[in-house]
Amino acid sequence: AEFHYHEFIVQETSVTRLCRTKNIITVNGQFPGPTLTVRNGDTLFVTVVNRAHYNVTIHWHGVRQMRTPWADGPEYVTQCPIRPGGFYTYRFTIENQEGTLWWHAHSKWLRATVYGALVILPKQGSNFPYSLPQKDIPVILGEWWKRDIIAVQRRTQFTGAAPNNSDAYTINGQPGDLYRCSSQGTAKYSVNPGESVLLRVINAALNQQLFFSVANHMLTVVGIDATYNKPFTTNVIMVGPGQTTNVILTANQSPGRYYMAARAYATAQNAQFDNTTTTAILEYTNLNSGANSRPLLPQLPAFNDTTTATAFANRLRSIPSNNMRVPKQIDENLFFTVGLGLVKCNPGPRCQGPNNTRFAASMNNVSFVLPRRTSLLQAYYQNIPGIYTLDFPPVPPVQFDYTGNVSRGLWQPRFGTKLYKLKFGSTVQIVLQDTAIFSTEDHPIHLHGYHFWVVGQGFGNFNAQTDTATFNLNDPPLRNTIDVPVGGWAVIRFVADNPGVWLFHCHIDSHLSWGLAMSFIVENGIGEKQTMEPPPQDLPQC
Ligand code: C2O
Repeated sequence: AEFHYHEFIVQETSVTRLCRTKNIITVNGQFPGPTLTVRNGDTLFVTVVNRAHYNVTIHWHGVRQMRTPWADGPEYVTQCPIRPGGFYTYRFTIENQEGTLWWHAHSKWLRATVYGALVILPKQGSNFPYSLPQKDIPVILGEWWKRDIIAVQRRTQFTGAAPNNSDAYTINGQPGDLYRCSSQGTAKYSVNPGESVLLRVINAALNQQLFFSVANHMLTVVGIDATYNKPFTTNVIMVGPGQTTNVILTANQSPGRYYMAARAYATAQNAQFDNTTTTAILEYTNLNSGANSRPLLPQLPAFNDTTTATAFANRLRSIPSNNMRVPKQIDENLFFTVGLGLVKCNPGPRCQGPNNTRFAASMNNVSFVLPRRTSLLQAYYQNIPGIYTLDFPPVPPVQFDYTGNVSRGLWQPRFGTKLYKLKFGSTVQIVLQDTAIFSTEDHPIHLHGYHFWVVGQGFGNFNAQTDTATFNLNDPPLRNTIDVPVGGWAVIRFVADNPGVWLFHCHIDSHLSWGLAMSFIVENGIGEKQTMEPPPQDLPQC
């Protein structure tokens, strides 16, 4: 195993997109930020130096951070933010993970421009479970705002106004040539005829599920969230914010130019959304002069094509080596509602919801509030009282019908920094149920510090009797972010074998800002292997 040392300078960088130049926050002046390539088992030391005028932290999305919760990164959860002028070194080891993960800022909405790929290759001397592709390309999907992102966030968070649509979707930071002033920068990848190409598709968009497809080419899905799945072939994939999907494409079409393209899978009924398409170009080498100069565009599903999104999710099955530890017995049986709600407010600019309300979001009717005095992990580790409470409800406070007839008790969340404590080694099941209060929505729910198995999903109300009988305990997909179906439910299981404080939240940033989150404390086990490391010397203080 190797050590990798990197320096991330967080700074302001001037960038031109959609005919306008503005300053954005970047790492090392790059947008997207640098791709880190490591092997399973390697250790990273990434020193983040903050030269911007915002607080910042970096999160290694999907890295399990076994015993190193201090390197996880969400601000006020595992660390205080790195202040302007400050620095902090993230130290962690990749343990038993291979495939594609990514890193992003975990402070306000800075991840709009502060993100990059984390490529994890197999250990030296071991192989992919499929034949080695000739090319390896990260394809990072994102969103671009013409306005300053912190201003956009403030508006969402404080006024509770929705939605806040971006001005473009992007592939590797570029809107692509279907947008104005964008053809020069359009990302272009050349392939030799017959070559196989691994596309590492990462959804880094702030607030949007995306369909992705390549004109005329089939995609073989081989990995999700840095786990291998049983390969299958499709012409379109759906990727939720936070998720990654590895696909192999073979350049077996007539030599020419083909668009790879992404656009919204917008699942909230009646919501306005951006239905434009971002593109990059796949170009065969040695094209003769007769080849098409205008690339072919793939057919992408309609924004409300839940059938295609569901069919794709249902085909994901993990490979046998991932399934050995699927919990069969459950120690903790939890049921969390995930959804939006309204809170009363005094009429005024901060109050943009119906009937003197503004939007909030919750799990089990608790709208999560981050502490400010110190991080949750420091508070837990050092026994600092008054930072959080341990009364997060394991089941919803009231019984109700989630399919539209929702009890008032879940319309009006209460604010709180409520955590739930898990014993080391306990097996946990969480039913995630969309509340469908205003409209049905789907929520990409991400658990820090863990991988979990998705043992079931469906539409309508979860039914403990009949739905449990249909669970897949044989080869369920193993991932770190689950897109809870629109107007439905998903059930995940995991073993609480990584001590620390771990954020569990919706990866749509507007929902996260409105409180769609909670945190788990996982207690230490016995002995060094089951105990979290002490905090690093340079851990930022609040
Ligand atoms: Cu990718 Cu808490 O985030």
